[in-house]
This record gives sequence, C-alpha cells and structure tokens, in this order.
Amino acid sequence: MASSAGNKTTESKGLEGVIALHTGICDIDGQKGKLIYRGYSIEDLAKNCTFEEVAWLLWQGELPTADEKHHLERQLVGERPLPPMARELMEMTPEDVDPMAFLRTGISTLALFDSEADDPSSEANFRKSIRLTAQIPVLLAGFDRRRNGQPLVRPRPDLATAANFLYMLRGEVPGEEAMRIFDTCLILHAEHGLNASTFTGRVIGATLSDVYSGISGAVGALKGPLHGGANRKVMEMLADIDRSGLDPAEWIRQRLTEKARIMGFGHRVYKTLDPRAAILRDMSEALAEERGNRKWFDMSVKVMQTMEQEKGLYPNVDFFSASVYTTLGIPTDLFTPVFAMARITGWTAHLLEQWADNRLIRPRAAYNGPQGRTTKR
Ligand code: SDX
Repeated sequence: MASSAGNKTTESKGLEGVIALHTGICDIDGQKGKLIYRGYSIEDLAKNCTFEEVAWLLWQGELPTADEKHHLERQLVGERPLPPMARELMEMTPEDVDPMAFLRTGISTLALFDSEADDPSSEANFRKSIRLTAQIPVLLAGFDRRRNGQPLVRPRPDLATAANFLYMLRGEVPGEEAMRIFDTCLILHAEHGLNASTFTGRVIGATLSDVYSGISGAVGALKGPLHGGANRKVMEMLADIDRSGLDPAEWIRQRLTEKARIMGFGHRVYKTLDPRAAILRDMSEALAEERGNRKWFDMSVKVMQTMEQEKGLYPNVDFFSASVYTTLGIPTDLFTPVFAMARITGWTAHLLEQWADNRLIRPRAAYNGPQGRTTKR
C-alpha cells in the first residue's frame, strides 16, 4: 500500500509481524517455541546461570568473567540504598494503591535524586541500568512492608538480587530451593525481544530522552492485562475457580462460551508452548511437591489441558508463574512488579542498543477521516 508520502509501506494492525528494527539481544522462534538471549538458549541459561550473569549478558553481549561477575554483584549491593525521598514516598502512598502505579511513580521519583539522570553517556546509562536493577526490588519490598504496617527490612549484602527480594519481603531468608527457583524466574522474565513494554521504552529512547523516562513508559505498558498484568489475573482466575467449586475444565468452558479471554494463554509470537512456560510448569510442580500442596499446580494443569483442547491455545510466561509466585509467598498484586524487577535488565539492554545506533521511531498512520471540509466562515 502506498502512503501519502508515496513510498511503499507495510500495514499491519498492532504491527503484527512487522520488523521494526534489528537487535542482537534476543530472538524468538514462535513456530518452534524457541527463545535465545545473545545466542544462548533460555533452557541453558535457566539451568546454568544466575540472574546477575544473565543481566550482564543482556547488557554486554557476553557472559561475565569471574571478576566481572564479582564486580557486578558488589555494584548491585552498593546501589541498593534508596534516596530518603523514596522512603517518604512509601509513607505517603495510600495502602490500596496499585503496586504498578506505585512502581511507575517510584521510578520517576528515583530520577529526581539521581545526579546523572540526564547524562546521555553510555557509561552513565550502564550505571543507571545497574542502579535500577538494584533499587526496584528494594522499592517494591519496602512498599509491601509499609502497606502492611510492617517494619522495613534492610537488604543483606550476602544475598543475591532474587534471594534478597524474598528476604526483604518476608523478613526471613528463603530456603535454597526457593532462592534457586525465584532466581530462575527472574532469568525467564528478563528479556523477550520487542514486546509492548520494551518497544515503548525504545520509542521513548529513540527521541534521545533518558533512561528513567524510557523505563517509566515501559512500566506503564507492562501494567496492562494483555501484557505483564496477565500473571496477576491468572491467580485471580485460579482463586475464582477454587471458590466456584466447579471442575476447572467446566469453569473454563463456561467462560469460553461467554467469549472471555483466559489470561495466561495465547501469544502474539508463540504459536506453540512458550518455552518459559515449560520451565515454569516444572518449577511449579517441584515447589508444590516440596510444600506438600499440589492444589494450584493441579488446577493449572487442568486449565492448560482444557485451553489446548477447546482453543488450541498454549500457556505463556504468565500462566505458571502465578502458581510459582503464590507458593513462594509473593502477594498476587506484586506479580507484575516482579515481572518488571526482572525485565528492567532487558528494557535497559534495549535502550543501550537503541542509543548505539539510534534513529527516531516514527511510523505512519493511514488516514480514514473526512477530506476537503471548509469552515465556510
Ligand atoms: C506477555 O509480546 C511478548 O513477548 C509479551 C511477553 C513478554 O515476555 O514480554 O511474552 C509477556 O505479555 C505474555 C502475554 C500475556 N497476556 C495474556 O495472557 C492475556 C491473554 N492473551 C491474549 O489476550 C492474547 O493471546 C495476546 C494479547 C497475548 C495476543 O493476542 P493477539 O496476537 O493480538 O491475538 P488476538 O487477540 O488477535 O487473538 C487471536 C485469536 C482470537 O480469536 P478470534 O476472535 O479471531 O476468534 O485467538 C483468541 C482471540 O479471541 N485468543 C484467545 C486468547 N488469546 C487469543 N481466546 C481466549 N483466551 C485467550 N487468552
């Protein structure tokens, strides 16, 4: 289709299938259900790496050496302390505020107290990427403690990002299995190509705006239930099924006859099982066995089987993460902020890549409004 600009254009609702840019960070094969970060399969990274190693890989393009890993871990610990205003923000925030709205505001607040917030150098932007990766878990755990009237828990320098979040949230050091599973969850949620929130961040970055503006926009996009907000909706659905007393298959079939969207299923790119969902399914079962409570896992499997039979749809990353996070003791309305706590690494990696070879992102729209009107004044 030729636009009014005269040059050849590609038109696709929701930009489905449109290649907007080239990236070396991540690739997804939606037909085969394959996902790679910088050439490594998600299965390999989930099994053999830590979240901190994957963060470095996303930012730098290579897995860290032992020295680089140690230095990054020390930097992350050193960047955890929040500016005093962030603590005042927690005090002022009403208890019933949506945690993603709090996070969106919290990131904008952090920007006000970062002396290099508007420094466009790649060195400063890398430091801000590490700073946000360190501070978001502290911000979220503090928000949850405050709204529950509990004292803040100071971060522990001997705990990695994933373990430290669970420690600050609940005030007790998680067990080895929980630490490992949650660290793997952060790896699985770290990056996923040009999803809606990452694309939002790159559009903002492409105007040569700053890291905090790009991440604030990305958080806004992730909040939506068609994107990162789905995991919370999955848990609310499982709870609804439980309360109904119906067989999960029957409950799903009823909703499908009402043309409802079943959260945690379907994907714009994957037309088979999301490889992250397969790993999360196994971890959900492992946790269920360890805790001696298969309720949510068994219910999830029945929902999964019904959706495949009735709609030919497969679970995405948000489906089994719901039962994993619940079993880890994470409150349901913190599920999407936890997604952001991991995706901050992918978002910032894409911003660094955008700025390395920038061009303003500005698509066209096909005009379908009236023409040739006059005011006759
Ligand atoms: C994430 O993009 C990414 O990479 C995102 C993500 C990441 O890591 O960043 O993977 C994370 O956001 C995962 C997706 C989380 N969202 C949900 O689980 C919400 C439920 N899913 C859907 O709304 C939907 O599947 C989308 C939004 C994820 C994708 O939708 P598309 O590509 O726009 O497809 P569509 O809405 O046009 O649906 C195609 C058909 C429709 O049937 P018809 O109307 O043509 O008959 O499939 C049906 C839809 O009704 N369908 C569903 C469904 N998803 C699609 N029907 C019921 N339940 C669903 N979940």
